[in-house]
Amino acid sequence: MALSRADREIFELRLERSRADLFDMLDELYGQRSDYEAISKALLALLKRSWAARPADLKRLDLQRDLAPDWFQRPRMAGYVFYVDRFADTLAGVQERLDWLDSLGITYVHLMPCLKPRPGDSDGGYAVMDYGAIDPRLGDMADFGSLAAALRARGISLCIDLVLNHTAQEHDWARRAAAGEAKYRDYYLIFEDDSLPRQYEETLVEVFPDTAPGNFTRQADGSWVWTTFNRFQWDLNWANPQVFLEMAGVMLDLANRGVDVLRLDAVAFLWKRMGSRCQSEPEVHKLLQALRAVSRIAAPALIHLEEAIVSPAEMLSYLGRGRHDGKEGNLAYHNSLMVQFWSALAARDCRLMTHVLRSHFPTTVTNATYATYIRCHDDIGWAVTDEDAGAVGLNGHLHRAFLSEFYTGEFPGSFARGALFQENPATGDRRISGSFASLAGLERAGDDPLATEMAVARILLGHALIASYGGIPLIYMGDEIAMLNDWGYLDDPEHAPDSRWLHRPRMDWEAAQSAQSGETAAARVLTGTRRILARRAAIPAFHGAVPVEILAPGPEAVLAYRRRAPVDPVLCLLNFSEQPQPVSAEWCRGEGVRRFDDLLAERPVPTDDGAVRLPPYGALWLV
Ligand code: GLC
Repeated sequence: MALSRADREIFELRLERSRADLFDMLDELYGQRSDYEAISKALLALLKRSWAARPADLKRLDLQRDLAPDWFQRPRMAGYVFYVDRFADTLAGVQERLDWLDSLGITYVHLMPCLKPRPGDSDGGYAVMDYGAIDPRLGDMADFGSLAAALRARGISLCIDLVLNHTAQEHDWARRAAAGEAKYRDYYLIFEDDSLPRQYEETLVEVFPDTAPGNFTRQADGSWVWTTFNRFQWDLNWANPQVFLEMAGVMLDLANRGVDVLRLDAVAFLWKRMGSRCQSEPEVHKLLQALRAVSRIAAPALIHLEEAIVSPAEMLSYLGRGRHDGKEGNLAYHNSLMVQFWSALAARDCRLMTHVLRSHFPTTVTNATYATYIRCHDDIGWAVTDEDAGAVGLNGHLHRAFLSEFYTGEFPGSFARGALFQENPATGDRRISGSFASLAGLERAGDDPLATEMAVARILLGHALIASYGGIPLIYMGDEIAMLNDWGYLDDPEHAPDSRWLHRPRMDWEAAQSAQSGETAAARVLTGTRRILARRAAIPAFHGAVPVEILAPGPEAVLAYRRRAPVDPVLCLLNFSEQPQPVSAEWCRGEGVRRFDDLLAERPVPTDDGAVRLPPYGALWLV
């Protein structure tokens, strides 16, 4: 394709801007290999080709975002996450539901895996057999293009998954590898016998110990393939630069189809090293910086969301630390914020949360922000370290066990109802599945008006947290109308062994309709969620680049943080208990509060007896 002179110049300038970010990494990763030179040439050609093929409207978007690089950090950003089939059957169906998203204030949607998965169990679509095709049950590429355009016309960004760590065993590469083609065998990690796998296993952890134990799968010919997740998800060999080249091509192709955000799945696992856990190895960050540079050169409107569900200390590096500062993920899931929300809610105590947020997370990150969430399609793992627990006088093991018992509902007095996911007897690890509303008490509340009121307040507390903490708040489908656990998953033989289907219901459109008015729990959650997102959008201090400072207001059940904007900073106070909590007005003034006006409810806050009274599970945003 012939490029105009202006397009050629723009490409050259962007290449110069990011050349070192890309090639310094690749040199380090692959410089020793004899095929490296040819591959870096091929990569350069790919970048040029993709840029030339980029549609004009997306090139314009590139420029717009070059000029407003903070677009994804702005307070108007609010996300919604769903499985296409569970939300609206097909991609065309989604287009008919866009008014619903608009009415919620959504400006970003994450379509859960929608590329062509393997037939049968595909781990919810995370076993892709063709990155160039849409899951035929959802539609085709034309439907995808038309949805992308419709979203863009409404100012809604489109996020989809890119599964980088593995392909389905049915992917063409894997099939050819299985058939013995040397080129493709080198795309995966295949061992002639189990001696190396056994050595690796000594330090590896198991992701699905219950349903997919071990990290390798024996093939019919006696060889072993690295399969971190399920036996049908074959890990790619990222030490082979050819894999990098292929995935860069996939990435740019999706970008040119109108994707704004790529959710890079399970990135912690990309690099393997004998004697390690094979998670978050330094090479992972080099790869991710290089991939980011690829986008910056040939599709700069695209940003990267990194899915690394790791410990607090490890997570931050996915937003670029040290030499990768400002050059790695634009977004990463704030897994700790999510875990700490549930922990504080069960304990009615924010001390652990305050400690973790304060000691592991800086007040700002460069060119990046968090994806904040309370629930998603996955389980909740209690990523609380013994050290952090110990720092606030807790025993880590006992606290994690308490949380599991609390959220299955076994713990006496628990308000929650959930299910265990992947119990690991070796480590004592017990993860939790369940919908936001059920874990927050709504299922158990039944007809009890007080218990219902508390459950509603807990849900809105969570939404107020993710809307104000800093980052893009992601609402998980159905949580805006407080959908309960879907126990029907047990009747589906493909889903029954995986309790995550408990919180992957079909959208209840009838309930959504009736929640538009009235005083039911669903209606109150819907109205509250809309208000939270609308108010967030109007508050400049909630921009992702504004520092967040974690404070200690006194009462254990209260979380406090200040968004330190140069003008009109906001103090956020959140009560994690069913008891009202007084916070000293004097203390608030000391933290800069000038007016006792709640920006969330848009009304004045009384300060009788020198204290602000936070209602049960209440949130206040004070200027
Ligand atoms: C991510 C997904 C999860 C999936 C795994 C393997 O963690 O969120 O659902 O099982 O990757 O692809």
